[in-house]
Amino acid sequence: MKYIQTEYSGPLSGTVHIPGAKNSSLALLAAACLADDIVVLEGIPRIDDVGILAGIGRDIGMKVQQEGGQVTLDPRWIHSAVIDPGKASSYRASYYFAGALLAKFGRVTIGFPGGDDFVARPIDQHFKAFRALGAQVHLHNDHYVVEAPELTGADIHFDTVTSGATINAMLAAARAKGRTQLHNAAVDPEVVDTASFLNRLGARIYGAGTSRIRIEGVPYLNGGTHSVIPDRLIAGAFLMAAGLNGGRVTVTDVIPAHLGSCLAKLEEVGLHIECDENAITAHGTGTLRATRVRAGMYPGFATDLQQPMTALLLQAKGKSIVTDRVFPKRFAHVPQLRRLGAEIEVRQESAFIRGGLPLRGGWVHATDVRAGTCLLLAGLAAEGTTSITGVEHIERGYEDVIGSFRSIGAKVSMRELDARELPGLTHLHG
Ligand code: EPU
Repeated sequence: MKYIQTEYSGPLSGTVHIPGAKNSSLALLAAACLADDIVVLEGIPRIDDVGILAGIGRDIGMKVQQEGGQVTLDPRWIHSAVIDPGKASSYRASYYFAGALLAKFGRVTIGFPGGDDFVARPIDQHFKAFRALGAQVHLHNDHYVVEAPELTGADIHFDTVTSGATINAMLAAARAKGRTQLHNAAVDPEVVDTASFLNRLGARIYGAGTSRIRIEGVPYLNGGTHSVIPDRLIAGAFLMAAGLNGGRVTVTDVIPAHLGSCLAKLEEVGLHIECDENAITAHGTGTLRATRVRAGMYPGFATDLQQPMTALLLQAKGKSIVTDRVFPKRFAHVPQLRRLGAEIEVRQESAFIRGGLPLRGGWVHATDVRAGTCLLLAGLAAEGTTSITGVEHIERGYEDVIGSFRSIGAKVSMRELDARELPGLTHLHG
C-alpha cells in the first residue's frame, strides 16, 4: 500500500504550473459524447478519475487517445448507452454520461454516482431536469435508466444551486427540441467552460456564468478543439501552502478571477497577494490571523478549499471557524488532524479551530481528495514525520502531487508500506 510521507519543511517557496481543472475535464470528456465528429481536448490532467472516465468511454465504443494533456475522442463509434454500474459508481462525475447519452440516444442505463462521500449527495435535481425535458427516470437497486423518445425544451427551476445538475441539464438540453431555460443555475467556471466547449461544437447556449441560462436546442454538434480551464482548487491549495510557514509561492497558468473569494480570505488572514494576468503570488509574513470561513457555491469560498484552509488556520493563533454550507458533513479530515495534535471541534456544519498550537507528525488517513491536501499541508507544518494513507483519493485529483510540492521545497515522498510499520496503523479511520 502506498502512503505519502511529509516532514516539517519550513517556508515553502517556488513556482508551480497549475494543470487543467479536474471537475471541468470530467464534464468535458462526457460532453464529448454529444458531438457528431472528432473532439480534441487540451490541458486534461493525467489523474485517475480521467482514466476511469476514458475507460467508460471506450466501453461504450468511443475511441479515446491520450497523449500528454491532449485527449482525442471520436464519439462516432459509440454503440451502447449502457454503462457498467460498478465503473459509474467508482466516481462522481459519471452522472454526466446520463445527460449526454440521453440527449444523443434517447436512453441511458447507468450506475448511481460514487466519488467522495460527504454523507448525503443527492442527484434529485439532475432527475428533475431530465423529467422536465420529457424523460422518464426509473430507479433500480444499483443503477437507473433515463429514457425519452424525444427531449423537448422546458423551463427548469432548480430548488438549490448545483453545478453538477446545471451542467447535466445543459448537456441534455443542447440537442433537445426548442428552447430550455435554466433558472437558479450555478455560475461556476466549470459550468461556463462546458457551455463554451459545447458552443464551440455548434450548440447555442447563452448566459452561462449567470443564474439564468438559455439553450436553443440544435439537431447535431460538430467536432472541435477546446482547452480546459486551469484548476482553481489546486491553485488555491498551493497559495495556502505559502502561508504555512511564512513562504512565497507563485502559481502560473491560472485565471485569477476564478479565485476571488479565496484570495480575499488569504489576504484577510495575513498573506500578501499579487496577481498578474495569469499568475498569482502569495507570500506569508509568518504571522497569521484567525478568521471565519463560510464555504458556499461559487463565487463564494469553495467547499473544496475549506479543508486545505483548515490546515492553514491551525497555524493562526486564536479561534477560527470554518462552516460548509454546500456539504455540511465534509469534515472527515478533522479527526485525522486531531491525531496530529490539532484542537478542533465539529458542531453541525462548522469546525471550531483553536489555532497556533504545535502539530506533531503521525499516521493519518485521507478520506477524500481535498482531505488529502489538507493533511499534506498540515504534515508540512508539523514537527517530525507525518504519514498519509488513502493516497488513491489524492491521486484522483492531483497529477503529480509529490513533484509539484517538492518543487516548492516541501519534504514529501511517496512510499510503499513496509510490514514493520503496520502496528502503528490501527484505528486510522477513527
Ligand atoms: N445537490 C442537491 N441535489 C442535486 C445535486 C446537488 O441537493 O441533485 C446539492 C448538494 O448536496 C450540494 C449542492 O447541491 O449541497 C451543490 O452540489 P453540486 O451539484 O454543485 O456538487 P457536485 O456536482 O456533487 C461538484 C464537484 C465537487 C465540488 C462541488 C461544488 C465534480 C465531479 N464534483 O460536485 O468536487 O465540491 O461540485 O459545488 O465536479 C472535489 O473536487 O473534491 C469535489 C468534491
